[in-house]
Amino acid sequence: MSENIFHAPDKFRENAWVKSMDEYKAMYKKSVEDPEGFWGEIAETFYWEKKWDKVRDFNYSMSKGPVFLEWFKNAKTNITYNCLDRHLDTRGDQAALIWEGNSPDEDMVITYRDLHEKVCRFANALKKSGVGKGDRVAIYLPMIPELAIAMMACARIGAVHSIVFGGFSSEALANRIMDSLCKVLVTSDGVMRGAKSIPLKGNADKALKMCADLGHSVGTCFVVNRTGSDVNMVENRDVWWHEAAQAQSAECPVEWMDAEDPLFILYTSGSTGTPKGVQHNVGGYMVYTGTTFKYVFDYHEGDVYWCTADIGWVTGHSYIVYGPLSQGATSIIFEGIPSYPDPGRFWATVDKWKVNQFYTAPTAIRSLMAQGEKWVEQYDLSSLRVLGSVGEPINPEAWQWYHKYVGKEQCPIVDTWWQTETGGIMISALPYAIDQKPGSATLPFFSVQPVVLSEEGKELTGACEGILAIKEPWPGQMRTVYNSHDRFEMTYFQMFDGYYFAGDGCRRDEDGYIWITGRVDDVINVSGHRMSTAEVESALGSHVNVAEAAVIGFPHDIKGQGIYAFVTLNMGVSPSDELMADLKKHVRTEIGPIATPDIINFASDLPKTRSGKIMRRILRKIATDEYDQLGDLSTLSDPDVVGTLINSHKVLM
Ligand code: WTA
Repeated sequence: MSENIFHAPDKFRENAWVKSMDEYKAMYKKSVEDPEGFWGEIAETFYWEKKWDKVRDFNYSMSKGPVFLEWFKNAKTNITYNCLDRHLDTRGDQAALIWEGNSPDEDMVITYRDLHEKVCRFANALKKSGVGKGDRVAIYLPMIPELAIAMMACARIGAVHSIVFGGFSSEALANRIMDSLCKVLVTSDGVMRGAKSIPLKGNADKALKMCADLGHSVGTCFVVNRTGSDVNMVENRDVWWHEAAQAQSAECPVEWMDAEDPLFILYTSGSTGTPKGVQHNVGGYMVYTGTTFKYVFDYHEGDVYWCTADIGWVTGHSYIVYGPLSQGATSIIFEGIPSYPDPGRFWATVDKWKVNQFYTAPTAIRSLMAQGEKWVEQYDLSSLRVLGSVGEPINPEAWQWYHKYVGKEQCPIVDTWWQTETGGIMISALPYAIDQKPGSATLPFFSVQPVVLSEEGKELTGACEGILAIKEPWPGQMRTVYNSHDRFEMTYFQMFDGYYFAGDGCRRDEDGYIWITGRVDDVINVSGHRMSTAEVESALGSHVNVAEAAVIGFPHDIKGQGIYAFVTLNMGVSPSDELMADLKKHVRTEIGPIATPDIINFASDLPKTRSGKIMRRILRKIATDEYDQLGDLSTLSDPDVVGTLINSHKVLM
């Protein structure tokens, strides 16, 4: 493990929000000793129609009663008032969003005034279709401005958005619509991806049909015209976005929301069962995302900030839309991919818009690193001041490359650890205050109290390795699993009473720096996309020829982790290349392309205990060629299967 320490050059320190380790320590101390005072003071910088009675209230311990957490109790606000209206006087003509299209010739600058108007028009269109406070709206769109507009239009009128990543299948979309019984769907005719245009409306139609068959009819489906492709518009249900929005007034008063009213639901994978609807509420989420954005990226007036994530994931929710806009920032929405039209696209775009803060995922860095430095060196990247990383551990080699070739050894790198559940960044360097060690997320954000636990739940001290958990709430924390508070308690609070259990392991070094070591559950992280092995297993298991499947993650040079599936077939079915291709296609249809297995090992049987439990530990060792570390095989019902699996693995590799 590299122990190089990077101390940011002094050039920008002078102007930074937090200038030194001492300043960070003092602020952190205050935030932990007096979280109510700390967050109350910060919350004053936002607009509240009515102030809170109490900053925070919570119970973290299931042994003491139901788990709950509340921030800014009884306050009233609206996040879009904070993201739009309050900026109109001072920065109405400033770019709020810059849209950089899939093709480098397509772009659009949307000022705060334009954005306000567009959000109001669509909010009115939603209202007209019968959407009101508390109703759920599903959004299934590519990275076009309408995605951000649709989410804020919901928030403006108090509707709860549920964004489904555009790469998910119709099955996945239907499941999510059904779970929260969305009243309306917003989609587009298609998606532009590199040199291709991919249809999307067909998926939406299929999903809506599945919902209707299950007895739930979505009243209105708004369709954005993105690709101009032919679509089937269903009468009395489908409406073109541009027609609906244009017909509406450009003013729409905000709905004043309770700080603890729901803002959105975002589905994410856990170790078991179906994806969970992670619910975030208005007030705490707004304050936390805005504040982490300001400090972690050291955002200053006039900066141009770019996060390459998709708004379909939490990173896009918090750090393309809500966090930046509440701070009056200029935020780029990028529709394209890093390799189109060539592997210089990221750097050409940084040069084009003079980007100051750039936030991306290690998988993107690794894939560009593999293309060589020449793609970076063609462009002027001197506007860059802070670089960010998110989604998975960044390996020191990728860190060094990012630092040397993109940051020219001048830009601090903030490696930000957080989760859909945490709403915002939890552990990260502050660029000019906390020195960086490549591969370490470094130290906690204000008021976040990480602890390292032993398997028995004992807090470890000093340099140690164990399970990452968080003591005490922070404002951006999820409030519940939609419609299933039991599941919320069981997933996050049952394992260690009195702590939020994050699902990750970590190491803490002698300087107190945190190094995330990866998930401790059956969640895998493929190209920064979080997925549960159980979901992929159940998709494979639903194929007519499959008897059983076991899925594990294995180290992958570019993706971080790849998907390795051990599959046993039904009696009488023989393995073949066609069947392998068909299984991959089946998973794509059931979940989406991101879940496609990299390797399928057809197995005659799987290693199981006598009680029938699959021993994944053994499968992981086989997948990583560690045959000498299989451990104790005596508990297996049939130890011979291991040898067979190893042989078939060797043939595949
Ligand atoms: C992983 C994405 C190491 C981690 C914001 C976490 C990371 C999961 C980092 C959440 C990081 C995220 N270093 N691991 N900087 N950031 N992770 O919900 O395993 O899509 O639990 O949220 O990604 O993924 P999610």
